[in-house]
Amino acid sequence: MSSLGKAGLEDVVVSTSDICFIDGREGRLVYRGFDVDDLAAHSSFEEVVYLLWHGGLPNKKELAAHVKAMRSTANRKIPPKMIQMLRALPKKTTPMEVLRTGISALSAFDPDAADNSREASVRKALRLTTQMPTLVAAWERIRHGKAPVAPNPRLSHSANFLYMMFGKKPTPLAEKTFDVALILHADHEFNASTFAARVTAATLSDMHSAIVSGIGALKGPLHGGANEQVMLMVEKIKSPATAGAWIRKALADKARIMGFGHRVYRVEDPRAKHLRRLATELGEQAGNTDSVRILDTVAREVTADKKIYPNVDLFSGAAYKTMGIPTDQFTPIFAMSRVAGWAAHVLEQHGNNRLIRPRAEYTGATRATYVPVDQR
Ligand code: CMC
Repeated sequence: MSSLGKAGLEDVVVSTSDICFIDGREGRLVYRGFDVDDLAAHSSFEEVVYLLWHGGLPNKKELAAHVKAMRSTANRKIPPKMIQMLRALPKKTTPMEVLRTGISALSAFDPDAADNSREASVRKALRLTTQMPTLVAAWERIRHGKAPVAPNPRLSHSANFLYMMFGKKPTPLAEKTFDVALILHADHEFNASTFAARVTAATLSDMHSAIVSGIGALKGPLHGGANEQVMLMVEKIKSPATAGAWIRKALADKARIMGFGHRVYRVEDPRAKHLRRLATELGEQAGNTDSVRILDTVAREVTADKKIYPNVDLFSGAAYKTMGIPTDQFTPIFAMSRVAGWAAHVLEQHGNNRLIRPRAEYTGATRATYVPVDQR
């Protein structure tokens, strides 16, 4: 008898996990027991990384040591040979391709590459989380013919990334916005990229390989790539005045509207409201709220027409755009945050591992007769 579930593993529970809880009906997201609304209001991305990897909030001493490690140049820097490698890539290489290639290459330089003990995996996770912003920012500068900016150990994880991108310290609002965006994207239960990372980890492969699997899965437009597609839609719409007509035509044409719908949430994604507020504040400070106003009109029309709601990807790009970040860097930024969750899941998988190996219900031929090629 067939045991085939719904397509796309919908609603299939594949494992227990202590890391992340989603209530799709109430629109709640919880990391290790803490509501993401509280973490967005009171925590920092650096602290959330600790929470995800170690299972609870750090005390003062633990937080200080963790923050020091996350800000240290020894962890953040990428080897000069990596910079040479980036310079050798065609300038048209997309930032997600660079990220996927770069993270894979970094394992060749990692002193713990072959060690899968928890201690070594936490060290690798820390290096990957702190090197990723350096890699992303270095490519942004190299592809525009500029020299990479060295990390600044006096700056927080978020401020340092924006500093390495633009060569100057961000405003307090930009730093805060970016940090909250990283908190909100840090984990999301068994989403496609985390599942890909866990499948890789479950073969007893290493942290770098699992993170590369996550990056590959995140890249697609149905997952992390949606934030870039939302901004491309905003650019096509052009102005708040044309948004209504544009989106009604797209809906009439049965187009899939990026930044809406979710496999788990049946209400609005709890992360969307934070990103909308921050994108609005940044836009007001910069004197241009067009992107948010366009997206508000789009949201009104899509929800009324299809009864689907904004997800995390709808407003993040509007905030990043106001900061001056190019659209094709939005998904690498998602990865810079989700790496924390991927790593937590790899640690959990390795802590109680069994190979993940499902079955397929075979629907092909079973008794084909082989005919030599010259008789076909
Ligand atoms: N625009 C238009 N119609 C939609 C959308 C959308 N964004 N999302 C779902 N639908 C419709 C879909 O056409 C289908 O209708 P029908 O039953 O009449 O054919 C129904 O809703 C169910 O859609 P589905 O694709 O079977 O649902 P799913 O659970 O497989 O898809 C999803 C979830 C996120 C892939 C989908 O909602 C989607 O493609 N959204 C746009 C891409 C996007 O924003 N992705 C980011 C997701 S959140 C962050 C992340 O995890 O990366």
